[in-house]
Amino acid sequence: MDSSSIPSPEGWDLRVLEVTLVELLHLELENFRNLSRVSRSFPSGLNLVTGPNAQGKSNLLEALFLLSVGKSLRAHREDDLIQWGAPFARIVGRTALRDGEQTVEAVLERGGAFGIRKTLRINGTHCSRLSQFVGRTPMVHFLPSDLDLVQGEPFRRRRYLDVLGAQLHPDYLRELQSYQKALRERNHLLRTDPRESLLQSYEILLAESGSRITLRRAALVERLAPLAARFHREFTQEVENLRIEYRPSIELEEREANLLVEAFLREFARSRGQEIVRKTTLTGPHRDDLAVFVNGKDARFFGSQGQQRTASISLKLAEAGLMEEEQGDPPLLLLDDILSELDRARTRSLLAHLPGSRQILITITEEEKIRAMFTGPLSTHVIRQGEILAC
Ligand SMILES: Nc1ncnc2c1ncn2[C@@H]1O[C@H](COP(=O)(O)OP(=O)(O)OP(=O)(O)O)[C@@H](O)[C@H]1O
Ligand SMILES: [Mg+2]
Repeated sequence: MDSSSIPSPEGWDLRVLEVTLVELLHLELENFRNLSRVSRSFPSGLNLVTGPNAQGKSNLLEALFLLSVGKSLRAHREDDLIQWGAPFARIVGRTALRDGEQTVEAVLERGGAFGIRKTLRINGTHCSRLSQFVGRTPMVHFLPSDLDLVQGEPFRRRRYLDVLGAQLHPDYLRELQSYQKALRERNHLLRTDPRESLLQSYEILLAESGSRITLRRAALVERLAPLAARFHREFTQEVENLRIEYRPSIELEEREANLLVEAFLREFARSRGQEIVRKTTLTGPHRDDLAVFVNGKDARFFGSQGQQRTASISLKLAEAGLMEEEQGDPPLLLLDDILSELDRARTRSLLAHLPGSRQILITITEEEKIRAMFTGPLSTHVIRQGEILAC
């Protein structure tokens, strides 16, 4: 594993995770959405999760991804994940790592001050902070809404970078969490008590944290760019050229953390008056974006829907590609309903770009669509009314 390949912003305790996922061996679920009880192993290669609509296919992938980042990218509220009427949900995965096996566990219980209590464990040890859990079981979750990654609002592209950044480096998540806390508090002041001295007390914190996140995102985009470009070239038979560019909230002329902190502070001082009027913080990583160009044109504004979707797939494949480069092993790939959204040519192309050695789970209602196009080994898991049928 090459721990030096993403440059570390100054002063970061860059603890690259020593363990990487080689394979998911076994999954146990209890009361996760409509999946009352699941106990299943998944061979390497392509795993098709099939069955009619509303049987629990997407729920299965959602449960798995929760073992990766401790959160769902689908749920609005975490208590929605617990089966209706049940007091708790439990997800346990046994994974093979380079240096042994690992058990990852997430338990969600109703109750407590926030209506839900979440406990995350690795090998039985409680992880009191999310950053101790995230990244130990690397995965890429590709949802139908990710096909709008390029066309959608900037927050989607920030989240794309954040989910990747958090899985690669626990520091990224810790930094993001402390930034978001300070941002919430400053925004609260802007709405309720916008005295300059109070606002300023948060600005140093936001500038320091914000500059570290900005530098980290810049480094991530630099590493993603050639991968996304390569996938896109192959994906479009060399017809289209893809370029991505980080668009930070502040001019990134200086790559030195302390100079960037000063630039943030100058920007806060300049826009404070306007922020008081608008009651919100106008500068910082929460306003960043990622620009995507197809054949030199900004795809968000000038791309056709097909181009935007293809570019979105290239970005998601680049996410998986960078995780593999950084960690030495491919992440578990979860493709939820993506193929039913794509035409034949793109489906064929996507399947051709999924390396056979990877462990991949794909949900699909009509498995014949894949069987006709994929010649490699396939395992099938049929889901009916929340149960995986024995086959
Ligand atoms: N907390 C919950 N408790 C029980 N059932 C739930 C809960 N949350 C969602 N469900 C149900 O789970 C069912 C299966 O959902 P899922 O999204 O996994 O379907 P799917 O097999 O992916 O279907 P599709 O092919 O349409 O995408 C839905 O009918 C939904 O109502
Ligand atoms: Mg589904």
